[in-house]
Amino acid sequence: MRINRKIQTLDEFTIQQMRDFPNATGELSGLLRDIGLAAKRVHVEVNKAGLVDILGDAGTMNVQGEDVKKLDIFANNQFMGVLRHGISCAGIGSEEMDDIVVFDDEVSNQSKYVCLFDPLDGSSNIDVNVSIGTIFSVFRRVSELGKPATKADFLQAGIKQVAAGYVIYGSSTMLVYATRRGANGFTLDQSIGEFTLSHPDIKCPETGKMYSVNHGNFFQYNEKVKKYITACQKKTKDNGGPYTQRYIGSMVADVHRNLIKGGIFMYPGTSDKPKGKLRLLYECNPFAFIIEVAGGKATDGNMRILDIEPKEIHERTPFFIGSRLMMEELEGTE
Ligand code: AHG
Repeated sequence: MRINRKIQTLDEFTIQQMRDFPNATGELSGLLRDIGLAAKRVHVEVNKAGLVDILGDAGTMNVQGEDVKKLDIFANNQFMGVLRHGISCAGIGSEEMDDIVVFDDEVSNQSKYVCLFDPLDGSSNIDVNVSIGTIFSVFRRVSELGKPATKADFLQAGIKQVAAGYVIYGSSTMLVYATRRGANGFTLDQSIGEFTLSHPDIKCPETGKMYSVNHGNFFQYNEKVKKYITACQKKTKDNGGPYTQRYIGSMVADVHRNLIKGGIFMYPGTSDKPKGKLRLLYECNPFAFIIEVAGGKATDGNMRILDIEPKEIHERTPFFIGSRLMMEELEGTE
């Protein structure tokens, strides 16, 4: 029996979903609760970023060779901490860490899930008060339960994800997650300190009027991408336009907006960096899963992101994601 209430918290929602599966163990709900808790802690720090000495570079580089901001480290530690101390995760992979971390204790070895995350995406925007986010991806282990998780658990094609989601620290803080059953968004109600269901069963509009790409790299893109961007610029009201270009430089914010309003986001390869900038496991797979559940599409320019078999945990890929018809127009560009 479904409880019909106006306000539903993230925990209530995931538990409600479990009621439809009598054999569910509650591990996934536990994992999402842990992620929600870490997100609330990061939300608090992001909100006071301008006030305390947490802002700015930590003076180190992450494994991708990029400057690490202090909040990146804070967020990484929060997510790792809650998942390590919870009972629903056997190990994690993070954009901020060289290698996977296998929790390897009696309880964690019994957990059937592993989690990958980008603790703070768009961190170069922290010191200018622009929206940033956390992205996460959950896989069922392929290694034997009762034993420590292995790298093979993390190197699975995106199509095998059990759940994926993101938190956007913006004008409000929102957690959006998807399972095969649907994508749902929860806004943090600060008066009760809970994520509450605000965007049930999100569907990405079939088309939109916004395209997001770094125009500064235009001359380094391949001909097909240049042609598509030019076609976007030439849209008029007679052929579905005019289009607006919106590029925040914080993928969570750009893709979140396109998911809700319709649009396309592109981070193509460039002549300097043929694989682009974004990471398959921490950024592209989770968003590809969410957008597909919501009716949109995601590719690397040639193939579906979710079908890519990853070879190493930090690999990058060109990334195109958005409303179905806009993606099909890109695919049809010659
Ligand atoms: P970072 O976390 O280093 O700020 O990177 C953010 C990512 C992604 O969120 C964003 O869309 C893209 O990098 C922006 O990169 P460019 O500045 O190269 O366009």
